Amino acid sequence: MKVAVLGAAGGIGQALSLLLKTQLPAGSELSLYDVAPVVPGVAVDLSHIPTDVKVKGFGKDDLNTALEGCDIVLIPAGVPRKPGMDRSDLFNINAGIVRNLVDAIADTCPKACIGIITNPVNTTVAIAAEALKAKGVYDKTKLFGVTTLDVIRAETFVAELRGLNPANVHVPVIGGHSGTTILPLLSQVEGVEFSDEEVASLTHRIQNAGTEVVEAKAGGGSATLSMGQAAARFCLSLVAAMRGENVVEYTYVETNSDDARFFAHPVRLGPNGVEEILSYGKLSAFEQKAKDDMLGGLRGDIQLGEDFVNKA
Ligand code: NAD
Ligand code: LMR
Repeated sequence: MKVAVLGAAGGIGQALSLLLKTQLPAGSELSLYDVAPVVPGVAVDLSHIPTDVKVKGFGKDDLNTALEGCDIVLIPAGVPRKPGMDRSDLFNINAGIVRNLVDAIADTCPKACIGIITNPVNTTVAIAAEALKAKGVYDKTKLFGVTTLDVIRAETFVAELRGLNPANVHVPVIGGHSGTTILPLLSQVEGVEFSDEEVASLTHRIQNAGTEVVEAKAGGGSATLSMGQAAARFCLSLVAAMRGENVVEYTYVETNSDDARFFAHPVRLGPNGVEEILSYGKLSAFEQKAKDDMLGGLRGDIQLGEDFVNKA
């Protein structure tokens, strides 16, 4: 299994690469790419950890070499938010970064599964899809927006509220990855009932958890450690699925539904990426209204990404 992390010298990139160095199956290779000159050092540092995972660092002129033979490519490259910004404020810088990296993937490892972490995810996934399409290699079963952070936050907050072990709490989170497009399905949490007030306040906290971190870091960036953990969980699920295990993760993928072209669903992963997009089930009245209210915004975010590639 060969995994590349693009943006590997950043806050998420380093946390994620550490987790993959210690948790990828024996015999795997980890390819670390960044434009920051420290990336070879990050690779040397990780290479001293005694696991059977080979790590190599690649600087800005070596993107294609970094991508050669990759099965999975994870992209956390780009700028993070500062207090007062929305994720959409990152579009101007991050759109071009994602486009260029995905173009290189299309040329070098077009069959790899791609996990997009760079914000605004609602839009950057559409950019990636259209960039791959323009190169004639788009396969919707291999492109994912990584929304696992919303799921692990929802599980943490529900467990905290009810005094449960978070390992035993499972919370579906559908939709997109910003503000009200993040839609936790608290009505589906097994064995736990919430009052209307609890549903409203938990939903709000899950939707604004990214901002909670951005404000707490006070200009020093956004979530990196919890995101490293979330991306590692997603990547290891993909690896397990590629090795024949039955795995379901919530992730932002191209769907055939009426909701929006891209929408986070429960997805059965398999050896080739998306095996089956599962139904997210029945929504409560609160969830149905929240979904109806946010769909216009999500569709607009997606259109922006499509236009970035097709109307450039
Ligand atoms: P960071 O600034 O710490 O790291 C970003 C890294 O990307 C830097 O090392 C930088 O050199 C590198 N980079 C910039 N342009 C590049 C390019 N063209 N090629 C390769 N590398 C490049 O930022 P971070 O905190 O790691 O966040 C990265 C991105 O992830 C941001 O856009 C942030 O909003 C997003 N994010 C997404 C989620 C999510 O749930 N999907 C969660 C947290 C953060
Ligand atoms: C998050 O949810 O933490 C990330 O999307 C980063 C951000 O800007 O909030």
